[in-house]
Amino acid sequence: MAELKQELGLFGATVYGVGLILGAGIYAIIGEAAGIAGESVVLSFALAAVIATLTGLSYAELASLYPRGEGDYIYVRAAFGNKRLSELTALLRVLVGVVSAAAVALAFAGYLSSFLPGLPTVVVAIGLVVATAAVNYWGIETSARLNVLFTAVEVVGLLVIVAIGMQTWGTVDTLDAPRGSVGTVQAAFLVFFAYIGFGSLVNIAEETRDATTRIPQAILLSIGITTVLYIAVALSAVGVVDSQTLGASASPLALVAERGWGSTAGSLLAVIALFSTTNTVLILQISTSRMLYGVSKAEYHSFPRVFSRIHPDRRTPHYAVVLVGVVTVGFSLLGDVGVVAGLANLVLLVVFVLINGALLALRYREPERERGFRAPGNVGRLSLTAVGGVLTSLGFVAFSLAQLVGVL
Ligand code: ALA
Repeated sequence: MAELKQELGLFGATVYGVGLILGAGIYAIIGEAAGIAGESVVLSFALAAVIATLTGLSYAELASLYPRGEGDYIYVRAAFGNKRLSELTALLRVLVGVVSAAAVALAFAGYLSSFLPGLPTVVVAIGLVVATAAVNYWGIETSARLNVLFTAVEVVGLLVIVAIGMQTWGTVDTLDAPRGSVGTVQAAFLVFFAYIGFGSLVNIAEETRDATTRIPQAILLSIGITTVLYIAVALSAVGVVDSQTLGASASPLALVAERGWGSTAGSLLAVIALFSTTNTVLILQISTSRMLYGVSKAEYHSFPRVFSRIHPDRRTPHYAVVLVGVVTVGFSLLGDVGVVAGLANLVLLVVFVLINGALLALRYREPERERGFRAPGNVGRLSLTAVGGVLTSLGFVAFSLAQLVGVL
């Protein structure tokens, strides 16, 4: 059977990760979050970064143990020896991929309506999903090149915001929280969406050279780079525009650019946000289809084998690509970015609990096994960062459920 092409190095994998992570979270959801948390939205990003980093360390170590495209599925199966649990994990991961792609596509449609008012949001979102699915079908070579370009544009857009807001950093009061610490944590749950994607780096392990060391490095680099950008952008945004005004804006970073450098800069940022969201939808579809491809291989007897077939010419898992595209279209029909993003966050946090649990179990059972990367902070066989990952993810799930039922 045809195999996937191996063509990504550390640079390519890191760019892929950063491109996957940057998207609607920082360009769109930051506005709603600032409206809830006030200037303490900076702390909300820091809190989301802590959760991402703790679990990122577990992903990095697990990827170095099992550099396979089917990632989470293998980790959970190896750790707990339970086929059903690993199938559930894989399903949840595919679900996060398609739900978050739908949320980002809806954010794209929101931005586009600032240029072309009156366009139906859902139709635009579906159009974007179909177009990016076509690129995914065509092949990762094309996609990887597009991705470097798009990721560079996304980063430049954020650097523009930082340049505009830098001189205001001293005036930002990060303890300003109109709804108290509950508001700050609520905003952290929202902006957690901005970190979705780093775990998907494990799914391109089979398309990366020296994956046992490169994938862990790319995961940690991607989280580090995006965290620095997020904190700097959050400081700048609330420094330049009042947090409540940001909260009321559908294109918050365009508003910051407009305040700082005029209306042309505002339009430029809106265009960049369109690029950014397009790129994220594209890469989310690539990574999710690779995940589905991996877990559908015949050896697992888990998912229909057809999804592991590789197109003889394009060498892409074309059936998986089509299914992921179709289900993403389905979630786009929900129509509300906030609702869809919140759903993706909740499901991903459940996956995080399983992933950190898998690392804890494997550390206990196979402490001496050779790894390309080992998470720091250990007491005997116990990984403190993985324990932190379980507790923070569970805490966030409990918090959001408490909010859903109106306890908080
Ligand atoms: N992290 C991605 C985003 O913010 C999903 O769009």
